[in-house]
Amino acid sequence: MIRVAILVGSKGRGSNMAALASACRSGSIDAETALVISPKAGTKAVLRAEALEVPVKVLHHKSESYADDLLSALAEAEIDLICLAGYMTLLPAAVVHAYEDRILNIHPALLPKFGGKGMYGMHVHEAVIAAGESESGCSVHFVNEVYDDGALLHQKRCPIEPGETPESLAEKVLDLEHLAYVEAVQIMAARLA
Ligand code: GAR
Repeated sequence: MIRVAILVGSKGRGSNMAALASACRSGSIDAETALVISPKAGTKAVLRAEALEVPVKVLHHKSESYADDLLSALAEAEIDLICLAGYMTLLPAAVVHAYEDRILNIHPALLPKFGGKGMYGMHVHEAVIAAGESESGCSVHFVNEVYDDGALLHQKRCPIEPGETPESLAEKVLDLEHLAYVEAVQIMAARLA
């Protein structure tokens, strides 16, 4: 059973975190959500984690000791795999190096298209529609020191229908994200077992 830490952002709904934590809890994947780390207390994601009885730690991104605090928290919880879920800032390089090939992110588009700095949340779906794409989806990829740049692990696709809006696309893609992230963590659980 691998031990997973989920890092959420301050504005996230926490839906990917909740999908992963629920899959761990129901035993449908061989993983345990050992820790959720949030930059802020009381966010939607934190409340959802608490409701799922997952331990939560609040660590501020902007604190000088952030990299060290994060490394200590991950070591203390004996984490095997880190999952970013709505975490919108770059991870400190020391953490990326310490957990090489053990950090995943989910992105709401088919990378390598529609990734990079500024491409997050609804901005991504607006860009996909504006580009006249016929399909979109989500990508789970390994994290390095550049936004949305690491190797792909898993993707799921959906067609873009006539009259599709960024909002309707976001909804469809979010449903795919929950499935894709759970499958990706199971792939990693098998690899790391
Ligand atoms: C998700 O759609 C995720 O793909 C996106 O933030 C949302 C978080 O939602 N991440 C990015 O855009 C990263 N570049 P959630 O808080 O409900 O999981």
